[in-house]
Amino acid sequence: MEVGNKNVVITGSSRGIGWELARAFAKEHAALHLVQRSWDSNKIEELTKLGATKVVRWTCDLTKTDSILNLGKDLAKENIDILVNNAGILTGELLEKQNDNDIIDVFQLNLVASALLMKSVLPSMLERRGGKIVNNTSVSAYMRFPCATTYAAAKSGLLAMTECLETELMGTGVGTLALVTPGIKTDMFDQIKTSYGKYFDSPADYISAEEYANQIIDAIKRDETYLMPKGATRFGLLMNKYTPSLFKKFVIGSFNRNRA
Ligand SMILES: NC(=O)c1ccc[n+]([C@@H]2O[C@H](COP(=O)([O-])OP(=O)(O)OC[C@H]3O[C@@H](n4cnc5c(N)ncnc54)[C@H](OP(=O)(O)O)[C@@H]3O)[C@@H](O)[C@H]2O)c1
Repeated sequence: MEVGNKNVVITGSSRGIGWELARAFAKEHAALHLVQRSWDSNKIEELTKLGATKVVRWTCDLTKTDSILNLGKDLAKENIDILVNNAGILTGELLEKQNDNDIIDVFQLNLVASALLMKSVLPSMLERRGGKIVNNTSVSAYMRFPCATTYAAAKSGLLAMTECLETELMGTGVGTLALVTPGIKTDMFDQIKTSYGKYFDSPADYISAEEYANQIIDAIKRDETYLMPKGATRFGLLMNKYTPSLFKKFVIGSFNRNRA
């Protein structure tokens, strides 16, 4: 689908992939509905200069159920064309060392908030017979790495939801795009190194958030249903799919729970 002049919601647009995606949509002259916890006015100005036809600010902490439901009610009235569920947090640690609230938040933010926002914008998309739901999952939705227990479970859930919805929406004019996101150089990528890295030599392959944002825009324009990783990460994904025992051997060889 074309993205120019479309009403686009991006959650987690303050930094990282979400911020670069806001810039990329702005260059395409989209109307941006940004969901953030806090605001930097200079950045909003930058988006207008880049070509955004509108920048609407929605302030929301997506770990809070009431806030998500209120945001959903508001977005339902806005004729949203593209929803990008991008906001996410990481819980990388041995399971017994993960903080209880972090475990609850990773499911709430990465999975529950995305489900509720999809539900909110769908009726209007279906009525207008057009729209796109873009969900930022992860290679962790397929690959089973140690220290990724709760994060991988939330991302696998989001991928499953996207795939069920794709079938449910056939013939309606509304589509889905699952981002099977590889290593992208952001704050979260650096966090992977410090949290998983204590026990596990996680793959170091990455691309920039700007490059990934451009890939996402291209995938939306081509009406793709998946954006799969390229390069070494793609090789790992194929190895995981077609030779799972070899992949597991590689993962076990890179892990030592007593190293930290
Ligand atoms: N980077 C990677 O290597 C990688 C790999 C696979 C998948 N992903 C996925 O890509 C997405 C974006 O990741 P990123 O690398 O860009 O991460 P990032 O740089 O850490 O940015 C995370 C974004 O989520 C927002 N966020 C965090 N907690 C929130 C909350 N409670 N309510 C609302 N927004 C909240 C942050 O806002 P604040 O500024 O307010 O904190 C920020 O805008 C995530 O879903 C992540 O799981 C990333």
